[in-house]
Amino acid sequence: MKQFFIVAAISSTVLLLSNCGPSKKAGTAAVPVPKMTYETNLQAVIADKCAPCHIPSKGGNKRPYDNFANVKSDIDEIIRRIELNPTDRGFMPFRKPAKLSDSTITLFKQWRTDGLLEK
Ligand code: HEC
Repeated sequence: MKQFFIVAAISSTVLLLSNCGPSKKAGTAAVPVPKMTYETNLQAVIADKCAPCHIPSKGGNKRPYDNFANVKSDIDEIIRRIELNPTDRGFMPFRKPAKLSDSTITLFKQWRTDGLLEK
């Protein structure tokens, strides 16, 4: 009988402690990471890295990526190409000797994960 009480005491302690878990997690989630948007996170990077070829106002005559709609509809192809190596056929940015930095590539991927928001 005594053993039963000990076991009961231990299990209720474990239950109590495990209940502390979710409230802690909720506390962490209360600081939301803002989702990436085309206007805030991508527009300037694309204007910098994909110019002039994809920016009509800079004389580009390739598919325009100065607008949300095209970047959104082509995002899978964009990510595929910027993840290629410079020697691979189809690599972007075209004819540049090096890939975009990992953090820039992550930006495109995170934007896709966040739901392809405009602003
Ligand atoms: C120096 C010029 C140049 C730069 C800079 C450049 N591109 Fe390109 N891009 C091209 C050319 C030329 C093509 C067409 C040939 C091809 O499809 O490989 C193209 C095609 C593409 C396509 C396929 C478009 C289609 O019509 O299907 C994507 C996607 C793309 N580029 C993404 C990018 C991204 C993203 C950047 C910036 C990180 C970039 N490019 C930078 C010249 C460039």
